[in-house]
Amino acid sequence: MVILRRVQDALGWVPRGAVPVIADIVNLSRAEVHGVVSFYHDFRPEPPGRTVVRLCRAESCQAAGGEALADHVQNRLGLKFGQTTRDGSFTLEAVYCLGNCACSPAAVIGDELIGRLTPDRFDQIIASAERVRR
Ligand code: FES
Repeated sequence: MVILRRVQDALGWVPRGAVPVIADIVNLSRAEVHGVVSFYHDFRPEPPGRTVVRLCRAESCQAAGGEALADHVQNRLGLKFGQTTRDGSFTLEAVYCLGNCACSPAAVIGDELIGRLTPDRFDQIIASAERVRR
């Protein structure tokens, strides 16, 4: 797990080619290492977009308007959860509690934890991210 975490921290994902190398290092089968990568949703088997949006879908955020916010986020990005835009700009991921329940609904956009997220604020953040890339 630590090695997989470090690979993902360094690359943003765990390339398929890393699995046999890691398996050799920890003396496990490729299937066992692949099983860990595929079981834990935090491990990405594909490269993420340049900005990863991780929207909380757990209870506190749901109770604070999270469902409507999730609909808005998906429409704004043109993505379903688990997808990346064709141009590689954004990846949308569902997470289940960011430890920021007191400030629900919450998300991590890029490296920033954001609480009390509204559709308008989300649009502002995304527009800012898009401007930075141009
Ligand atoms: S339920 Fe969303 S941050 Fe805890």
